[in-house]
Amino acid sequence: NRRILVSPSILSADFSKLGDEIKAVEQAGADFLHIDVMDGHFVPNITIGPMIVEACKKIATIPLDVHLMIAEPDRYLEDFHAAGANILTVHPEATHHLHRTLTRIRELGMQAGAALNPSTGLEAVRYVLAELDILMIMTVNPGFGGQSFIPTMLEKVRSAREMADKSGYPIRIEVDGGVAPSTAPDLICAGADIFVAGSAVFLRPPYSDAINLLRSAETQ
Ligand code: DX5
Ligand code: ZN
Repeated sequence: NRRILVSPSILSADFSKLGDEIKAVEQAGADFLHIDVMDGHFVPNITIGPMIVEACKKIATIPLDVHLMIAEPDRYLEDFHAAGANILTVHPEATHHLHRTLTRIRELGMQAGAALNPSTGLEAVRYVLAELDILMIMTVNPGFGGQSFIPTMLEKVRSAREMADKSGYPIRIEVDGGVAPSTAPDLICAGADIFVAGSAVFLRPPYSDAINLLRSAETQ
């Protein structure tokens, strides 16, 4: 009977009124605020950096769940910490020394996450489970909001949950990409704890209905 946490991704918000959007999802019951940082190098798209994270921090009262889709994230851990990130998630595909990166994130006082591209095996994190607070399974190829869920990732979420449970560490399984009322029930059964949802929240107002709909899959 896990409680599902919902982390709306502001990538699908209206950036011309970002402050209002953040307040609105908070009021609608969001648990975290998901912020997608992209560098045009690790992923094709370019989005936001520490300056905007800092601006979000001024408005948000819920934890900032910052997802770094950037090459060599080690260079920016301090900057995102200073900007107000509470959870910092990096891609093992983008860093040469994942253990060092995760250790540093925790040293800075943040929760450490590792996000795996769809094609990356769980082996990439097997020996760093002690350093992990969150294991994020990408259920689309990172880079854009509004893409469709890759069905074969369901099995990966299941295996990730199994690996986390066996480790004995309290690791949460976060899923990111194409999470919607249609995919949520299976994801919950597979063992997901945290739902990232961009288009399924920001493009489906009212936000409270959208968030509740994702969570309602819990009881099904
Ligand atoms: C994808 C991002 C996601 C994205 C999800 O690269 O990491 O967080 O915002 O968007 P939806 O929920 O629309 O698939
Ligand atoms: Zn993301």
